[in-house]
Amino acid sequence: MSWSPAQYTQFESERNRPCQDLLARIPNATVAKAADLGCGPGNSTQLLQTQFPGANLGGFDSSPEMIAAARQRMPGSHFEVADIEKWSTHYRFDVILANASLQWVPDHATLLPRLVEHLAPGGSLAVQIPDNLDEPVHQLMRALAADAAWAEKLAGASERSAHRHSAQWYHQTLGELGTKVDVWRTTYYHALEGGAEAIVEWFKGTALRPYLGPLDEGERETFLSRYTESIAQAYPALPDSSVLLPFPRLFFVATRQ
Ligand SMILES: C[S@@+](CC[C@H](N)C(=O)[O-])C[C@H]1O[C@@H](n2cnc3c(N)ncnc32)[C@H](O)[C@@H]1O
Repeated sequence: MSWSPAQYTQFESERNRPCQDLLARIPNATVAKAADLGCGPGNSTQLLQTQFPGANLGGFDSSPEMIAAARQRMPGSHFEVADIEKWSTHYRFDVILANASLQWVPDHATLLPRLVEHLAPGGSLAVQIPDNLDEPVHQLMRALAADAAWAEKLAGASERSAHRHSAQWYHQTLGELGTKVDVWRTTYYHALEGGAEAIVEWFKGTALRPYLGPLDEGERETFLSRYTESIAQAYPALPDSSVLLPFPRLFFVATRQ
């Protein structure tokens, strides 16, 4: 199932907040060259430009739809369809940003040394990864996927965006690569208008994609209606009919010494 820029940008201001918080922790005062890995529709690249005006920016994403949307948003910047897993260039960067993208890329033990190699001396790798696999939104997806109605089709769906390690692991791994590491975790509480449906809309743009992709239209409708029912129970509506979505996220900035 391809990524949909329109679905993803429905919650752009909520999705941008962690990226802004991440960018604010990058210690580099001058940034001449920066890369945005998994740039999506260019929202994070735009924030990178605001934080470091004048930097030469490149955005990379494996989704042609996302890259087309990013080019439309920022016609003056360089955007390229590329897989982070294989991304390699002779350039060295003052900042490499990966906001909400590395959870889709396997084998961080191999990936991180390669990304650090692409940093200029003093350059920073800035990463934010959702840390919500134990939240009801994910637990309920996994439980529903195990239903015999589609279990075979959905085998492996839960692993697609599960590439995440602990804060301790990132701290140690990046420290051993000779970087100074700043790791932290934040839980955001997003007040969404529209109750359980709004939560489902949010995740249709991201974590639900590997579950919905293999299903036919009828199955997808049933899956979504059952998922919405269970989300409504786990996240009760507030008196004004909005809903509060707790969303823990893990951050790190690793700066090459
Ligand atoms: C949740 S979006 C994040 C978009 C943006 N960085 C932001 O801050 O909102 C994740 C993006 O990662 C991209 N992505 C997933 N796996 C990828 C890979 N292996 N290589 C490159 N991009 C990938 C997806 O296409 C999607 O656009």
